[in-house]
Amino acid sequence: MKRVFSFILGAIVLASVIILGLTYQQATEQRSSLVNDLERRTALLSDSLKESIRPLVLTTATSSMVAELNKFAGREDLVGLAIYNPQGGLYATSTGLNAALTADPTLAEHAMYDDERKNDFLASKQGNISITATPINQGDNIIAALVVYQHADYIDVAIKQTWNSSVLRLLIISLLFAVALLLIIRWIIYEPIAHMAEAIRQTRTGTAPNTSALLNKSHAFFRPIANEISKMSQSLVLARNVASEEARLRLEKLDSPWTAERLKEFFKAYFKDRQIVVISNREPYIHRKIKNDIEVQIPASGMITALEPIMESCGGLWLAQGSGNADHEVVDKNGKIQVPPDDPKYTLKRIWLTPEEVQGFYVGFSNEALWPLCHLSFTRPIFREEDWTEYRKVNGKFAQALLKEIKHFTRPIILIQDYHFALLPAMIKHSRPDAEIALFWHIPWPNVESFSICPWRKEILEGMLGADVVGFHTQQYCNNFLETVGKEIESLVDLEKFSVTHNGHMAFIKPFPISVAFPTTPVETSEETRPPLLDSLGIKTKHLGIGVDRMDYTKGIIERLRGIEFFFKAYPEYKGKFTFLQIAPPSREKVKRYREFGQEVDDEAVRINQELAEAGWTPIVLLREHHTHEEIYPLYRAADLCLVTSLSDGMNLVAKEFVSARTDEAGVLVLSKFTGASRDLTDALIINPYSAEDTAEALHSALTMTAAEQHRRMKKMRATLKNYTIYRWAAELLKAVTNLS
Ligand code: F6P
Repeated sequence: MKRVFSFILGAIVLASVIILGLTYQQATEQRSSLVNDLERRTALLSDSLKESIRPLVLTTATSSMVAELNKFAGREDLVGLAIYNPQGGLYATSTGLNAALTADPTLAEHAMYDDERKNDFLASKQGNISITATPINQGDNIIAALVVYQHADYIDVAIKQTWNSSVLRLLIISLLFAVALLLIIRWIIYEPIAHMAEAIRQTRTGTAPNTSALLNKSHAFFRPIANEISKMSQSLVLARNVASEEARLRLEKLDSPWTAERLKEFFKAYFKDRQIVVISNREPYIHRKIKNDIEVQIPASGMITALEPIMESCGGLWLAQGSGNADHEVVDKNGKIQVPPDDPKYTLKRIWLTPEEVQGFYVGFSNEALWPLCHLSFTRPIFREEDWTEYRKVNGKFAQALLKEIKHFTRPIILIQDYHFALLPAMIKHSRPDAEIALFWHIPWPNVESFSICPWRKEILEGMLGADVVGFHTQQYCNNFLETVGKEIESLVDLEKFSVTHNGHMAFIKPFPISVAFPTTPVETSEETRPPLLDSLGIKTKHLGIGVDRMDYTKGIIERLRGIEFFFKAYPEYKGKFTFLQIAPPSREKVKRYREFGQEVDDEAVRINQELAEAGWTPIVLLREHHTHEEIYPLYRAADLCLVTSLSDGMNLVAKEFVSARTDEAGVLVLSKFTGASRDLTDALIINPYSAEDTAEALHSALTMTAAEQHRRMKKMRATLKNYTIYRWAAELLKAVTNLS
């Protein structure tokens, strides 16, 4: 609409320039015709007067001159008359002529000097006065000048009227034009396009298989496009039906790849009457106020990347903490909103926490105690009694909200995400034994000795064991968990079935290696060009490496930068030829260690750049802002290599996203052996990120690797992803929690 208004404004400005230009011309012509007319009339008067005045001048009969002048002085528009002598002095003036008008003899002198009539205008207290001086001759001699003073205000009044009527005309034309244009845009363009957009949206979301009615409302002008859209809609509906049917058939052949369609069919086939609820701390969509607008942000989180496609496929309810500053504004009175915002598929219910709860539950216990406890990255966990109290309280708050939501559902399927909710499974199971509960722990589970330092380890384990299935990314984490349970609480651990029986309830402990949607979304274009971001960052080198991580100390970003520094020192021929682009959006900035870490990374990048940079080349480009998948995927595809150097990482979906993005089957993944992903993507160059030399050697191998070798490795890794997509992860988890398998 802004553009429409700009267009109307532009058109009005153009029309104004034209109309005002024409008015200016008209006013100029009108003024000169009125002036000519005045001069002509004055000339007639002067010529007739000067004959009767000549003899009086010759005899210098001043009183007769006055009498003669007074005969004319009363005429309409005439202010008065005067006669000047050749020296510029006054012979006589008509009675009552203002002395200020005759004070300046210049015009009379000029007329006498040039022996021709002279005209001028004077702005005086009596208004605009036209002055005409006519020389009076006797033979060849100039003997005097007759000056006629007339009112000329009527000329300005006439010109003003011309301008006024022109501006009025302009206003009326502009108004009519704007209204007409708005109506035309609305009827002929806007409404038909809105109908077409609605038809396309309904086709895309599958909500109205017959879109012809909407398209028929299109104006004749758009009919050809509308017809094409109608046909395209029909083809899409057909294709969707075929895909759905194929997915249904594939359900019987379990060796075919898991796609969104297959997951949807699987869900419909087995759980169509069941309610599915996801619980996580981080919400999938954050509404933020930016100036006067509300923007939707998808947070940087592997957990969101994984869960979102499942919810989009299966629908249901997602409970999460409302954390955006505009979150309150967009939800209904129950804190609910349909998402994704542009194509709603499921319900997000936001749970509101107080600042004290956020501090104790999220900042304190989750991120200063459990996170460092589970990640072996040498950051000491901080255990505070008050944080633990808030953690329990918030788990209880989510439990209450969830129990209310599932009140009317039998055997709801509850998928609890991550270390923020270790106590939730037992709380739910206690009130709703019929609920089938899975807890998926997205981060590593440490070895038994490491975990034993936690003062509330028993409560945490008992809370988790309320689930029917406790999932981890790798078998190693499952083994660590079983060993921890065996040591810490009274229970029966069955290492054959991988189960734990505690207080009469059996929980299965299983690995579910989380993954990404494959083939990748957003869909790539085959003839994709170099991402413009690289040019805007001034990256011109032949080779490009990329890293994408939340700004988190477990991601080994400092070690990575040192590995890159080591590489340039070991292989100086790559100076000016290789740039490393690190995207590191801010994360958990309420936690002191994260703020410090961000600064350390900045300092390290600056130090290395200062040491190595050359004219026109910066070895490390660090971007600390959030970037969307749409922005990152082209960068993955443009890079020669992706560097993942986590010191400890449950899975690391960046590694999988990179492989998924490489539809060209080129590029090299350099991957830390301390990630869960290194168990799946064995054709990556696996490194120990603590060794700068190891990282440098892997970088060199990646940059010198033949296209054939890259292809061989990438193909195998892509096959792994294709075989175990995020949809399969979800299906395996659902099967496990509902005893399907
Ligand atoms: O993937 C692990 C995880 O802790 C998720 O649970 C979380 O959403 C993500 O990292 C990002 O952390 P946060 O939600 O604290 O910003």
